[in-house]
Formats: sequence, C-alpha cells, structure tokens
Amino acid sequence: MLNARGLLCAVAASLLPSFSLLWQGNAHERITTRITFNKEIVRILARRCMGCHHAGGMAPMPLTTYTDARPWAKAIKEEVLERRMPAWRAVPGYGDFANDPRLSSRDLDLIVAWVDGGAPKGEDKDLPKLPDFSQVWPLGKPDLLLKPRRPFTVSAEAEDEYRCFVLSNPSTENRWISAVDLRPGDGSVVHHAFIWIDRSRNGEQQKARDEIPGCGCFGGPRIAPSGILGGWVPGQPARYTKGNAYLLPARARLVVQAHCRKNGNAGEDVSQVGLYFSKEPVEKRLRSMAVVNRKFEIPPGVAAFKVKAFVTLEKDAEAAAVLPHMHLLGKSMEITAVRPDGTREVLVWVRDYDFKGQTSYVFKRPVPLPRGTRVEVIAYYDNSEQNPRNPNKPPKAVRWGESTTDETCVAYLTYTLKE
Ligand code: HEC
Repeated sequence: MLNARGLLCAVAASLLPSFSLLWQGNAHERITTRITFNKEIVRILARRCMGCHHAGGMAPMPLTTYTDARPWAKAIKEEVLERRMPAWRAVPGYGDFANDPRLSSRDLDLIVAWVDGGAPKGEDKDLPKLPDFSQVWPLGKPDLLLKPRRPFTVSAEAEDEYRCFVLSNPSTENRWISAVDLRPGDGSVVHHAFIWIDRSRNGEQQKARDEIPGCGCFGGPRIAPSGILGGWVPGQPARYTKGNAYLLPARARLVVQAHCRKNGNAGEDVSQVGLYFSKEPVEKRLRSMAVVNRKFEIPPGVAAFKVKAFVTLEKDAEAAAVLPHMHLLGKSMEITAVRPDGTREVLVWVRDYDFKGQTSYVFKRPVPLPRGTRVEVIAYYDNSEQNPRNPNKPPKAVRWGESTTDETCVAYLTYTLKE
C-alpha cells in the first residue's frame, strides 16, 4: 500500500513523465520549468551568441556547453532583457534589417523562463549537433584567400589597437564577390574590421604602404578607396543579397582596417580575408558612396553638437546597406532618404553610437532611392567633459581628421543602380 506521501509522488511522477529532470542542475535550486538548455536554450545561443561566445572567440567566455553557460544564467537573463546582448544600436521601428541579431520575443521569453525555472540541463538526447565554431571558414573554403605578405606584431599592453594592412590580389580577372569573411590571426582578437577596395595606381605611396606591415590607423584606410566591401564583425561574414555582388577589378588590392582588442598575449597577426565569388548570374552591381562632411568644428564643452551631411542622387538607385561612421565623440546618427515626391524614410537611426560597436545595417528589402533623392545625415557629438570616451582631457575644439582625437561624419551607402 502506498502511504499518502508516496501516492502524491506517484501522481506527480505520472503527471510529469520526466520527473528526474526536476532536480537536475544546481542542487540548491528548485527546477520549475520544462525548458532546458539541451532542448531550447542551446539552439538560441548557437544562433545568436556563440559566434562570439565560443572558445577562442572574441567574447570573454564561451557559452557553448551547459557547464560553460550555467554559471552565467542570471547574467544572460539580464543582458538579454536589457537588450545589451547581442548588441544592436539601431532604434527599433526605423529600417528593416537582414542582419538584425536581436532575439525574438519568443526566444527572450524562453531564456527568462529557463533562468527563472532553475536553468536545468535537460536530456543528452535533445542536444543538437552544434556548428564547429573553431572552424575557420563558416561559409566553406573561400574562392580567393588573401593574406598580408608579412605578419605584424600586436603588443600585449594597449587595450585597443587600430591597424591597416594591404592585401595584394593576384587575380588577373575581374571577379564578382558575393560574400567576404575575415579570419583574425592568433595574436589579437579582431573586434571589427572594414574592408576597402583600393585601385589607386599611386606606385610609390603604395609601395611604402606595402613595406609597413600593418601600419597603425584609426579613422580610415589612409587611401582614397574606390569602394568598401563592408564592415565585418565576428561570427558575421558579410553576405550580400542574392543577385547582388561587388566587382573586384583585376589586381585591385584590399585594405583592411582592423580594430584589434588585446587578449593579453603579444603576438603576430596574420589576419586573412576570404572572398567568395558569385555562383549565380549577377543581376546588380553593388556600389558604395560616402555621404560625408569634412568641414566642421565641434566646440569644447558642448554635449550635443549637430553636424549634417547630404548627397543628392543623380540616378535611380536602391539602397542595400548603410554604415554610420564617427569616432569617439559620436553620439547618434540618423540617415534619412528624402525623395523628390517629398516622402521621407529613415534608413537607420543609431542613437547609442559606440565606435566599438560599428556595423553595416543590411536592408531586408532594397530601399528605393529615385533620382533626385537627398540622403541626409544628422549626427550629434558629445564634446563635454562628462563624456567618458572623450579622448581630449580637457576637451578641445575638434575638427575632421583620421586620428583618435579627431572626428568624422560619414554614412557609407551601399547601393545598386536601376539599369
Ligand atoms: C558580437 C559578439 C557578441 C555576441 C553576438 C554576443 N556577445 Fe555577449 N559578450 C560579448 C563581449 C565582447 C562581451 C564582453 C563585455 C563587452 O565587451 O561588452 C560579452 C559579454 C557577455 C556577458 C557578460 C556580461 C557581464 O556581466 O560582464 C554575457 C552574460 C553575455 N555576453 C551573454 C550573451 C548572450 C546571451 C548572447 C546572445 C543572446 C551574446 N552574449 C551575444 C560579445 C558578444
């Protein structure tokens, strides 16, 4: 005969077939949820977090296994609820982006319920096969691999370092590029990078650049680039919309501007760039332009100084992506298309600009920019003493320039022409 307590347990066990689940995980925490790491959570983390949070990745700790993630459960909940992870600085409601990494509200609910319910592990059979994050090229072997002729040294001390390196391109044919990825070298952790196409035939200058492997550079590529292949962040190869591709002219070099973040070890960096050729017929050629203002002066002590830039398009075009770019004083940037018929569309509004969190915003659908459209940029800068990122202490008047203590006001627009 079962006594009352035994009966209760038997009933509970029959109601909850996986009763043993209830006491897994942290022995001191009661498990009150059926959502498990192995079933739901690991899948969300794999999609949205592990690109950075894997062993050897750019984030400080891996979140690939239950053992890795469990101690971080509360922090994970806080970071996702506050929308700090994955970081995304575009104000919601303006622009619809293909590379928006934010969690859906369903994923958010699952994470919160998992953490609040005691963060159980679940059953081994539910664990999916994870992508191999240590795998060098998630898109497969690149069609063209470019690496610097010589490695450059990254020091162990400085926290942030900005380097430019030139990659020569042996290809004697024009190539259509449909995706670009970057593989950081061992000595540094590349936090983000811009990849430019350089067609300059300025021989001597070019030679000098080639001689310095990885010269320091903060604000720009120090060339007049003929195009930008895009911005790169870890775990996110730049892949263009089907049918769109960049033309890489024969022998055109690439200049990579990388923001390297220390991992405590001095070392040699041999970051490599992998290019993928278009496998399908190219319908539209991607082009880029800079909407830029180089004539401004931001007075010291002003917390919200406005700088504007604009360009009027002379042909019918469609926007594919946009990349706001300022330096350390940059606070916000709003990029708006004002069409000849008077309609206005905010392409992107980055309110919480952070130099270290720069990214391309890739549109889900191309945005029509008919001939005569004015692309307007409104940027705000904080040149007050209260801005912790202000590189000038005390603040001083700041003008356009490429060093850390200068500023810039650029929106890189990637577009196609309506042919
Ligand atoms: C683009 C890279 C990247 C992605 C994607 C990313 N993280 Fe992070 N994460 C970082 C970096 C870098 C840090 C270190 C702190 C910093 O620099 O902001 C960090 C820190 C954290 C921390 C520690 C915060 C603290 O308390 O110090 C948690 C927790 C975290 N991430 C969770 C997540 C989760 C959950 C996801 C996915 C939903 C995610 N991260 C996606 C790069 C990333």
